[in-house]
Amino acid sequence: MTPSVRDGLDEERAWALLVALARRAGRGDPVVRDVALRLGDDGSVEEDGVDPWIVARPRTDRGWSWPEGFPAHRELEPLLDLYMPICVGEGQDALTIAHLAQTLDGRIAVVGGASQFITGEEDLVHCHRLRALSDVVVVGRHTIEEDDPQLTPRRCAGPSPVRAVIDPDRRLGDAYRVFQDEPGTTLVISATGSSRGGARHGRAEVVELDAVDGQLPVPAIVAELRRRGLRRVYVEGGGLTVSRFLAAGALTRLHVTVAPTVFGSGRPSFVLPEIHALSQAVALRWQHRTLGRDVLFDCVVGR
Ligand SMILES: NC(=O)c1ccc[n+]([C@@H]2O[C@H](COP(=O)([O-])OP(=O)(O)OC[C@H]3O[C@@H](n4cnc5c(N)ncnc54)[C@H](OP(=O)(O)O)[C@@H]3O)[C@@H](O)[C@H]2O)c1
Repeated sequence: MTPSVRDGLDEERAWALLVALARRAGRGDPVVRDVALRLGDDGSVEEDGVDPWIVARPRTDRGWSWPEGFPAHRELEPLLDLYMPICVGEGQDALTIAHLAQTLDGRIAVVGGASQFITGEEDLVHCHRLRALSDVVVVGRHTIEEDDPQLTPRRCAGPSPVRAVIDPDRRLGDAYRVFQDEPGTTLVISATGSSRGGARHGRAEVVELDAVDGQLPVPAIVAELRRRGLRRVYVEGGGLTVSRFLAAGALTRLHVTVAPTVFGSGRPSFVLPEIHALSQAVALRWQHRTLGRDVLFDCVVGR
């Protein structure tokens, strides 16, 4: 039997509910009205049942509240405050979120590429949680080359997203770990007619898109992912890839975690077209949250 909230809602159950809400949004059916929620025995989201755990309030910035008359679990509030707004509400079936971990001076790696790890354990867990809440995690070619990441959520419970690597000219070798997993779990997004042919890159599927001025248009990348049912897109890096999504107006949410360290050189978080007036800066609404020794800026893109 599912434990009652009166027995004590804990982090594991709250997280399982968040994952179930994200899965539901990923199927095109996000929770969009105020409704009391709990997790059913079969792992699906139960609405307006007995002993709800929390109330979804999708039209508020916080996204949720405790049910009236039920005990508040203060220790869970940071978790719910951070993730409920990206799990419930209109548009969560088309979430496009990016996260970068940077220094105080806006660097995501040293010049040579090393970046593990700029931020602390709490931010690494956060990164894995974003993977578990997404249908697909997108990275650029340099990130694979430098880190050979698995891009799976190993620091939290939850399903593994599909991985999508943007490598327009297929310069990457096929021995990297994401290309050697089960077929169907990794996509290589490349330019039509790139020199290396073939429908497979290692065990990954090759997706070809038409380049425009030497780049793969971000809207075409997002449209192709959505066509495959991958609605919730998480752009994990690096800076160039996140910047291209931002410049294309394709990000709905941006998470930047700032570590209290200065490199004074290295690879930048953002590389965008030059602006000449402060009014041309990217418009963001933001809240900040503490993640261990780091500070996370949780930004909604647009005013
Ligand atoms: N601190 C963090 O949060 C974090 C996160 C991830 C990675 N990293 C680090 O960041 C570094 C990599 O970041 P980066 O900014 O140098 O590169 P990146 O974003 O990983 O990769 C950039 C490359 O991806 C391809 N690409 C991305 N979007 C494209 C598009 N729309 N059209 C065509 N090609 C596209 C291009 O490949 P081509 O060059 O082939 O054209 C581009 O040069 C590594 O050192 C990694 O360790 C840090």
